[in-house]
Amino acid sequence: MKELNKKAILKDLKENDIDIRIFSSIDSTNNECKRQCFDKKYLLITAEEQTKGRGRSGKNWISQKLGNVYMSFAFNNNLKNSPISLITGAIVHSILTKITKSKGFGLKWPNDILLKNKKIGGILVENEIQGNKIKTIIGIGINFNLEEKESWWGDLSEFSKIIERNNLINGITKNLIDYIENENLHWIDSWHYACSHLNKKVKVNSGSKTICEGIFIGINDDGSMNIKLDDKIKNFKFGEVSIKGIY
Ligand code: BTN
Repeated sequence: MKELNKKAILKDLKENDIDIRIFSSIDSTNNECKRQCFDKKYLLITAEEQTKGRGRSGKNWISQKLGNVYMSFAFNNNLKNSPISLITGAIVHSILTKITKSKGFGLKWPNDILLKNKKIGGILVENEIQGNKIKTIIGIGINFNLEEKESWWGDLSEFSKIIERNNLINGITKNLIDYIENENLHWIDSWHYACSHLNKKVKVNSGSKTICEGIFIGINDDGSMNIKLDDKIKNFKFGEVSIKGIY
């Protein structure tokens, strides 16, 4: 596995726009983004390992030095209510699919990245209000290798010769900047295309409780999901979904 490399990560990107820092070890790349002020348009932090990697809902994110992607991208957010975490999921899915030409990748609402129905990555978006500005931090973790795995965890090890980590970070960064500057991605269509459970029966969970069971019929432009129950449609903005045969 090649080491993280500034030049490769910034390939074909405007270096004057991006403040990039690479760490061999850090508590959490999201935390580091919060601590840093940046003079350029964007801040990109990546690390070989995180000692306090964080996942959604206060969970830990296992972040050993095994050649995985731990990256956080921060920008001053002027986008109007765009659900950036779902958009990022659609971007990551399309890049992985393009590089590998595999049809095995998927997304699980709101933003789990799957390979063959196992979780290989996740996204943690955090917002910081600084004066009249919103600094948005997009944290992305993608596992190439995991030593210990839950049954529902996967990794990219089968593609280790095809996907190069610096190139993947470069592609994600390029696509995020393109979205932020041009908003020209039909991300809802891309997200529906990538969804592993569209028109399937799902459970909606909040914490350890199942609060509803129905058919997942899609998402809205605020990122919320629609669940069909008999002849009613319910809209959910928060929670997790679980699906039989996935997790
Ligand atoms: C999830 O729970 O699915 C989201 C996981 C997000 C992990 C990434 S790794 C880089 C960034 N830094 C963190 O501490 N978390 C995010």
